[in-house]
Amino acid sequence: MKVQPAKFCKESRAVKTALVLPPDTNHYGTMFGGKVMSHIDDIAAIAATRHARTSMVTASTDSVDFLHPIRKDHSVCLEAFVTWTKRTSVEVFVKIVAEEMLSGERTLCATSFLTFVALDINGEKQMVPTVVPETELEKFLFDGAPERARKRLAKRKQSKALAERFGTRSFWQVE
Ligand SMILES: CC(C)(COP(=O)(O)OP(=O)(O)OC[C@H]1O[C@@H](n2cnc3c(N)ncnc32)[C@H](O)[C@@H]1OP(=O)(O)O)[C@@H](O)C(=O)NCCC(=O)NCCS
Repeated sequence: MKVQPAKFCKESRAVKTALVLPPDTNHYGTMFGGKVMSHIDDIAAIAATRHARTSMVTASTDSVDFLHPIRKDHSVCLEAFVTWTKRTSVEVFVKIVAEEMLSGERTLCATSFLTFVALDINGEKQMVPTVVPETELEKFLFDGAPERARKRLAKRKQSKALAERFGTRSFWQVE
């Protein structure tokens, strides 16, 4: 596999801002969790692809804790960048800040880590360039990544064991 030269975290940085509209919100006027997760996957995919410049698929999303509600008079701003790489996978950090449009007050509403795997045009896994952290925050996230990756792979093992146990039959299918 051809290896690309190392890249800085800042080269993958991606930003996305969107208004929160009534169809994005539930009957309490706060944003659907699934909508937030869709924005997270979207921006993380852009950051991962900027880093590797090949097709990237989401392998996993770490838990998303919704720390504060996002309301329909808010906008949301998501920022993402690649924090760490292994062989064919990259870790992306995403943060979501809501802004109350009339007052300008901003609140960090959620953060998340996602893992993407690089594929070539034949769908074969591909080596990714390594990433070089520069700032204190980038170094902090980089240094914590191996432990997060270890936990993810342990969880993946559990998910595979569950999948084998349950298979494809409906829960209500008679033996
Ligand atoms: C993700 C996928 C490509 C992994 O392929 P695979 O052949 O099972 O993977 P491997 O065990 O060889 O792992 C490949 C890399 O992915 C990483 N990886 C795989 N699953 C992972 C998970 N759940 N979480 C974190 N990393 C994961 C591995 O650690 C490995 O990293 P490395 O090469 O950097 O060391 C494959 O499972 C897949 O296509 N899944 C569906 C992806 C998809 O459709 N996503 C969209 C949402 S539905």
